[in-house]
Amino acid sequence: QSFFKPIQNTAPPSPTKRHTKISVIGVGNVGMAIAQTILTQDLADELALVDAVKDKLRGEMLDLQHAAAFLPRTQILSSTDYSVTAGSDLCIVTAGARQNPGESRLNLLQRNVGLFKKIIPPLAQLSPDAILLIVSNPVDVLTYVAWKLSGFPSNRVIGSGTNLDSSRFRFLIADHLDVNAQDVQAYIVGEHGDSSVALWSSISVGGVPILSFLEKQQISCEKETLERIHKEVVGSAYEVISLKGYTSWAIGYSVANLAFSILRNQRKIHPVTVMANGFHGIEAAGGGGEGGEVFLSLPALLGRGGALAVTNVHMTEEEAQRLRDSAKTLLELQRQLEL
Ligand code: NAD
Ligand code: LAC
Repeated sequence: QSFFKPIQNTAPPSPTKRHTKISVIGVGNVGMAIAQTILTQDLADELALVDAVKDKLRGEMLDLQHAAAFLPRTQILSSTDYSVTAGSDLCIVTAGARQNPGESRLNLLQRNVGLFKKIIPPLAQLSPDAILLIVSNPVDVLTYVAWKLSGFPSNRVIGSGTNLDSSRFRFLIADHLDVNAQDVQAYIVGEHGDSSVALWSSISVGGVPILSFLEKQQISCEKETLERIHKEVVGSAYEVISLKGYTSWAIGYSVANLAFSILRNQRKIHPVTVMANGFHGIEAAGGGGEGGEVFLSLPALLGRGGALAVTNVHMTEEEAQRLRDSAKTLLELQRQLEL
């Protein structure tokens, strides 16, 4: 006898809501911060976790499952076998080596490309319609690698990019002005890392463009404060890693926020890693020059189809040149890769 006694003559449930499945590859500090934040958002019906370390993976799955009484209902699965990810709408890749204190993100490239060769092909094969969201570092080059290895169209291969750097930037500006960070519109673009570019000319606070405001008031020393803030953004991860060994909470919120915009078709603009050729003077791929495809962060419109468009954000010539230099740094690294 079953636990429930069925109600007679009920019509079969109508599929009012699409079943949504998210997979998270890598259940380290970052993967788990993302997974737990996603669970609070009522975003997925199914969450699949994959890692190479079996016991840790099962332990993390059970620990999340035990929060079921406090969260919207999500079926949580885990396996070291990629078949558990089949039919995902969104695959978030966080597996791989992380920086030691003082080490740059770019230094991780060779180690993590080796892992991506094992991770991306089965993911792409088992979820051919999914959007890939890459988080492992160096995130821009690895987004390019994931695009190459998956064979997916570029709109469906996105990197978390400078969504995090921009949040750090907004926090520091907001802290300086003592306002809410959500009222600060400010973008960091380019590489998620040392060559990132702060777009001063487009910062606004409560709709007031900050640079023209400062110029009108002839407050020049504030520009030095803004430069200091950008340096602080670039140094943020190094500082956190030297203090606690890794970064996790901010990237967890950043990626869960991207997952929400994508799966709930929010058409929100986020600075994320996308294929950047043809934008802001970055040479078109195959344009006859030395350039190839390059992925870096630009403000992009995100929705159910992935990256839908890049906004025509205003850049000064100096900012655009810095962006092209950032693209060059990444292209040089990509040229050394064997895929
Ligand atoms: P971690 O060491 O805590 O976790 C990495 C996990 O990957 C481990 O659980 C490990 O078992 C797993 N793994 C290794 N090889 C695997 C494989 N072949 N298949 C499946 N899983 C595998 O590291 P972390 O702190 O979680 O960082 C993970 C990555 O995220 C690093 O590359 C780090 O630099 C990057 N990161 C990126 C951002 C960003 O803004 N893009 C922010 C923070 C960290
Ligand atoms: C970050 C990682 C380390 O927190 O890329 O910026």
